Amino acid sequence: MSIIEVKDLEKVYKTSDKESGIIGYVKHLFHPKYKEFKAVKSVNFNIEEGELVGYIGENGAGKSTTIKMLTGLLTPTSGKVRVNGKVPYENRIENNKQIGAVFGQKTQLWWDLPVIESFRLIKKMYKIPENEYRKNLKKFSNLLELDELLNKPVKNLSLGQKMRCEIAATFLHNPKIVYLDEPTIGLDVLVKERIRKFIKDINKEKNTTVILTTHDLKDIEEVCDRIILIDKGSIIYDGEKQAFKDTYGKQVLAEISIKNKNALITNETLEDEFEVIEETENFLKIKFNHDKTTIMNVVNRISNFCEIVDMHVQEQGLEEILKEIYRGEVVC
Ligand SMILES: Nc1ncnc2c1ncn2[C@@H]1O[C@H](COP(=O)(O)OP(=O)(O)OP(=O)(O)O)[C@@H](O)[C@H]1O
Ligand SMILES: [Mg+2]
Repeated sequence: MSIIEVKDLEKVYKTSDKESGIIGYVKHLFHPKYKEFKAVKSVNFNIEEGELVGYIGENGAGKSTTIKMLTGLLTPTSGKVRVNGKVPYENRIENNKQIGAVFGQKTQLWWDLPVIESFRLIKKMYKIPENEYRKNLKKFSNLLELDELLNKPVKNLSLGQKMRCEIAATFLHNPKIVYLDEPTIGLDVLVKERIRKFIKDINKEKNTTVILTTHDLKDIEEVCDRIILIDKGSIIYDGEKQAFKDTYGKQVLAEISIKNKNALITNETLEDEFEVIEETENFLKIKFNHDKTTIMNVVNRISNFCEIVDMHVQEQGLEEILKEIYRGEVVC
């Protein structure tokens, strides 16, 4: 049995459709009108224990709505969710014991209390055994560098400091499943790096299942093995991250140092072999498609016009691939 099972999941938001102004307000009072918007449409996926899954998509695609249904914060309009055998929105208390969740900039810590007091309250709420609590606190403080923050009130912490504490609080009760909805938003590169390492370490040690939603694709590159891509409420890709890159990342970018050029390469190239993006006397930047040619062909052809001194080849990363998908240039 998969630890997370999602079947034909849908969420329709109903919002009031009232005209503006006082007349609109009064009309709405007597004849309320509503409009419906389907934010999540026929979503299906299974997640196995210990998987690190990136749940990605454009703004408004339906990621947070899905995560809220998985955590039990929202009830689906139709379809089914089962998390470790429980239906989250029907067994919220039971479900909460086995999960941890971070939602962007919302905090689960007590604003006026020192961080350590919030941690103690979490210990009580989740009935974390003393030795387990101490072990986790020591480990998390070390991994997330919390020592100097623990006695400060949450309200005095910077965004990055608060998020490090937030992440620690989320994992304190050894949840089986953790949902992280934009945990690295607004953080500096070092804090992001620390959080990514923390997630990977805990997953390795405790086999925690993690669903990560983020617009920083480096988070996905570094943490996740699998991606689920959602577009306008529907899943358009679900599979291995590497397979996604292999399938959709056809473009290769090459930066080439050259000398003794005998002609303008831009004018001499065949369109379907490679495209010149930048050309000077001793530098060439080109783009070509994996499926249409090989790097050896490209090198051979360029060698007709100059000597190649050095070459740096870069395959398309997730970010470039997703830009093309979001622009509609590539279809999943
Ligand atoms: N409470 C709500 N009432 C009505 N519509 C909503 C509500 N919450 C979200 N929506 C709409 O549902 C769609 C999906 O929203 P959702 O928050 O799930 O997107 P998201 O993928 O998390 O986007 P982002 O990357 O911006 O966080 C959006 O069009 C949004 O406007
Ligand atoms: Mg969101």
